[in-house]
Amino acid sequence: MNVYNQSGDVFVKKLAAQAKSNERFEVFQHVCMYTLEVILKCAFSYSEDVQTAGDSNEYVNTVNRITDAVTYRFLNPLMYFDTIWNLSSIGRQFKKDCNFVHTVAEEVIDNRRDALNKQDSTKGSRYTDFLDILLTACDEDGQGLTKLEIRNEVDTFLFEGHDTTASAISWILYSLAEHPECQQKCQTEIDEILAGKETDDLEWSDLSHLEYLTMCIKEGMRLHAPVPAITRDITEDFDLGDRVAPKGTTVIANIWVLNHMETIWGPDHMEFKPERFSKENIDRIEHFQYVPFSAGPRNCIGQVFAMNEEKVILTKLLRNFTFRLDPSHTVKRKMSSVMRTQNGMYMFVEKRRLE
Ligand code: HEM
Repeated sequence: MNVYNQSGDVFVKKLAAQAKSNERFEVFQHVCMYTLEVILKCAFSYSEDVQTAGDSNEYVNTVNRITDAVTYRFLNPLMYFDTIWNLSSIGRQFKKDCNFVHTVAEEVIDNRRDALNKQDSTKGSRYTDFLDILLTACDEDGQGLTKLEIRNEVDTFLFEGHDTTASAISWILYSLAEHPECQQKCQTEIDEILAGKETDDLEWSDLSHLEYLTMCIKEGMRLHAPVPAITRDITEDFDLGDRVAPKGTTVIANIWVLNHMETIWGPDHMEFKPERFSKENIDRIEHFQYVPFSAGPRNCIGQVFAMNEEKVILTKLLRNFTFRLDPSHTVKRKMSSVMRTQNGMYMFVEKRRLE
């Protein structure tokens, strides 16, 4: 909670300057720097600030290019051939970009390994984080994870831990800016929860009281599907009713399509309607109907972390500002590994006058 809150304060400060300037700002880029800072601090006890280190971040930009390249390859069967892919300009850039993100992950790991070798850094005031667990984990024969295994885990966490949440937060903010009445309802709820407190930091016990904001978060993730699709390798023949997908096939489960099936969500499936997730209506949603974090044994292990992060940062932002879309700019979706935009997401932000 401290990290969400403190990094949230930095974000609020940056936006306050933006509000003063009266100029529009690009939401995704700012949110990405916030979520990257949060995951670096929480999972890797990274102490440097990402949000104040510049207008953009090389790691964030590189992950953007990597996920776009993966989607491009997915959609272009000619590129399935390694030789063609490796010779293409996107394939060559992809290789360079992978090397760069691996270097970042290795740097994070090596720094901590050095610290662990010098002293037991899991003791003392710092909490045991994800990286400590990876570095010290052993199997029953005393065998630890290899360097590559650790790097793979760090890569997954760094990517899964920031890009997905950035997409979710940005698109939820987009829907709230598009629906001022919903935005205002969230602000009223937040003001009530924070009334009488000295700061706008949320505490753990506040999270469960953000009922309306949680409905907006869930509906935002339905409408925009921050992770639009997942893949599975089928290990046995799978009967789909009118056809069989044979064992060994890789299938894509399209969460975006599921979230927009008229037969499930009704004719208004393209509309933002948080009341779908109200206490009265939520029981009508079936278990596998709504799976923004996937389902089954390989579902998202960061989902509680993500929901809490979304609640804290949206609370901070809506407590301090009112968001308005730039009417001169039409935001166009871009389906990548996460839902992005083709042309940026621009908004104006206005400082709220609080009593
Ligand atoms: C709104 C934010 C997020 C969304 C929408 C999301 C969505 C997903 C989805 C759909 C999957 C499953 C992929 C599949 O079934 O193949 C997944 C897996 C995963 N997520 Fe998330 N995620 C989010 C945030 C996070 C965060 C914050 C973390 C880390 C702290 C995280 C860590 C992971 C990991 C490690 C996996 C792989 C689990 C496995 O393969 O066993 N995610 N996520």
